[in-house]
Amino acid sequence: MGREEGSGNGGSFRAPRGTQDILPPESERWRRVLDLAHRLFRSYGYREIFLPVMEHTEVFARGLGEGTDIVRKEMFTFQDKGGRSLTLRPEATAGVARAFVEHHMEKSGLPVKLCYSGPMFRHERPQKGRYRQFHQLGVELIGSPHPSADAEVILLCRDFLLALGIRTRLVVNSVGDEECRPAYVEALGGYLKERAEELCPECRRRMEANVLRVLDCKERSCAAVIAGAPGLSDYLCPPCREHLSAVEELLDAAGAEFVRWDRLVRGLDYYTRTVFEFQDPELGAQNALAAGGRYDHLVEEMGGGPVPAVGFSIGLERVMNAGPALPEEDREGVFLVAIGEEARRRAFLMAYELRREGWRCDLDHMGRSPRAQMKEADRQGYRFCLILGEDELRGGYLTLRDLELGSQERLEANELWMEAVRERLAG
Ligand code: HAM
Repeated sequence: MGREEGSGNGGSFRAPRGTQDILPPESERWRRVLDLAHRLFRSYGYREIFLPVMEHTEVFARGLGEGTDIVRKEMFTFQDKGGRSLTLRPEATAGVARAFVEHHMEKSGLPVKLCYSGPMFRHERPQKGRYRQFHQLGVELIGSPHPSADAEVILLCRDFLLALGIRTRLVVNSVGDEECRPAYVEALGGYLKERAEELCPECRRRMEANVLRVLDCKERSCAAVIAGAPGLSDYLCPPCREHLSAVEELLDAAGAEFVRWDRLVRGLDYYTRTVFEFQDPELGAQNALAAGGRYDHLVEEMGGGPVPAVGFSIGLERVMNAGPALPEEDREGVFLVAIGEEARRRAFLMAYELRREGWRCDLDHMGRSPRAQMKEADRQGYRFCLILGEDELRGGYLTLRDLELGSQERLEANELWMEAVRERLAG
């Protein structure tokens, strides 16, 4: 096994290239961001869906487009024992659409508003902000063709980033629809053909598969060609133009700043009309923290009816790398410090009682000295210790110690002890 595949030195293992372990306390920061996101999603009316991390390969080939970079070269695809081709999901939108159709979700009434979070897999060259296993948070609003749906998901994404104090630039565009896009594709194709020698080899290939992909290229030589290319906005048909204006008007009215960039296209073929990205102006090529758009034909591609939809996904690693301002950590709770066998037993049962009441609470399992137990409490972020020693047992009281102030007081160890602790902590 090569190192890339995870073997380390001397028989120890490493996580596969492009994947990472998220350990405490970093994992706790992730959890707080996830909790905040799901609370926000819920407040906008999105309900959670859990999907398989693998799908039949066809879901992505058809859903994302055979010509996309993802389908052509970035999927983790394998055969199961029955010879079927399965793929680890490179994104979640196609799976959501597949599930929507499979479970006839339209029957419960439209729109169906779903949110999700979890790992995605793309076989890309790893670098900062780009991993082979990464995590997305996202929402999909399925069933509405109205610009208010587009504006809602954009504002939700914006709210999330603002709640974390992350400053981004919102870039919006329309990629048109089946009416007007063909004329643009032709014009762009004609323009690019004339300047094909200036394009990178990858873009010359992209021209064959889907010329729009060229607009996404980050190579410097291609950027110059792209800058002179015809823009999408000149080709939009009146309905697409109106749709975009209506979305922009709502964003404006809601006070959301954005820039319109008419060369913004996305790396997936399912988009129609609105596309958008929240970019970090300080990051280089991997500058999109979140992205999404409207996809009015994906549900049909998955075998369903003509159901329009719009959504976005946020890259969790990129959000964490952007230094989010996390909400205050919940420090309430007590660490039980026990001295002696009988006290340990009592503390164990008290901890169980506290936890069943929903408290954050912990105690020593390592046979540590009282002083070491208090140090452990501090290390775990507890401000208060509830001390139970021989004196306490004999005298029928508990000692509540405030590690921050260094003060302590006695509480009676009667049936109201939990109330008394709660009162002191609140005070
Ligand atoms: P996407 O632009 O491919 O869109 O990915 C969305 C976000 O996922 C990116 O903006 C980025 O933050 C993150 N991301 C993508 N690839 C990587 C990677 N290799 N490493 C780390 N982060 C990454 C979608 O996936 C669509 N499903 C979005 C959508 C939802 N459109 C409609 N609904």
